[in-house]
Amino acid sequence: MCGVSSCCAGVLAAMRSGCGQCWIFLRPVRDKVLDNAGLAEGDTVLDVGCGDGLIAFGALERIASGTVIFSDISQELLDHAQSLAQEMGLLDRCRFLLAPAEDLSALEDASVDVVTTRSVLIYVAAKQQAFKEFYRVLKSGGRLSIFEPINRFSIEISEQPHCFAGFDVTPVMDIAQKVKALYQQLQPRDSNPMLNFDERDLIAYAEQAGFKEIHLELQAKVTSPKDGDWEAFLRAAGNPKIPTLEEAMRQVLTPEETARFVARLRPLVEARQGVHRSAVAYLWAVK
Ligand SMILES: C[S@@+](CC[C@H](N)C(=O)[O-])C[C@H]1O[C@@H](n2cnc3c(N)ncnc32)[C@H](O)[C@@H]1O
Repeated sequence: MCGVSSCCAGVLAAMRSGCGQCWIFLRPVRDKVLDNAGLAEGDTVLDVGCGDGLIAFGALERIASGTVIFSDISQELLDHAQSLAQEMGLLDRCRFLLAPAEDLSALEDASVDVVTTRSVLIYVAAKQQAFKEFYRVLKSGGRLSIFEPINRFSIEISEQPHCFAGFDVTPVMDIAQKVKALYQQLQPRDSNPMLNFDERDLIAYAEQAGFKEIHLELQAKVTSPKDGDWEAFLRAAGNPKIPTLEEAMRQVLTPEETARFVARLRPLVEARQGVHRSAVAYLWAVK
């Protein structure tokens, strides 16, 4: 059944982007999203924010008949997914739609059996509107299956004044505050789509959209920091839209403040003497 088949798509995409590690992490996520979607032969599946097709190709692999609609706001990613589908001989079971999650008006009411989406709502400001659209395009009895990181859980600890990125910076709290203020100014927690929701909000969005049967599984971890590499820590940013720590310190600290901050933080990072928190949520629901 495999040949150059859809089960290779995620691998192909991961290999082409040079990200084997990503694939190892993403494969079980993809499988769980698809398990929760309860796919059946002949289904029409809409994958919202499909990217290069991780979930969409996985759906094609699971059902031998039926159609998958790849939708995204990036024409480039849709073109990429389309060329992969062509290579795999799957084009006749695929459709491609340039549309944002919050406006799926190109699709008729009650026209799909399943809506899937992975790590897309973190980019969507109008999340309630997106859920309304998922509900509208689903047939009665249709299934929704979502995976999202819950970034609010990760950042909550660092909102305490003595804490920076999970490390206790009590002696240099005033300096840490300057760096935190820069990040807060660039991405205010309450208006940043990556941070302004948690798992309860996801349930509320689904309920308010009209879904009747809703399930949510939260996977949360509190561990020691994985890595004690100071250079990597300096060059890391919470997400691609904000400066790295090195850049942020350059922007808001004097050289003397930087030296004091680093003198406190670096040994803690290198000894992994901090707290790392992460959480993800799977939500699935029936119309
Ligand atoms: C982290 S990637 C996830 C891709 C894919 N779902 C996967 O599981 O690999 C986020 C995707 O969401 C898309 N995206 C961002 N904002 C969106 C929006 N408002 N509506 C639909 N897709 C969006 C991006 O273009 C990107 O392809």
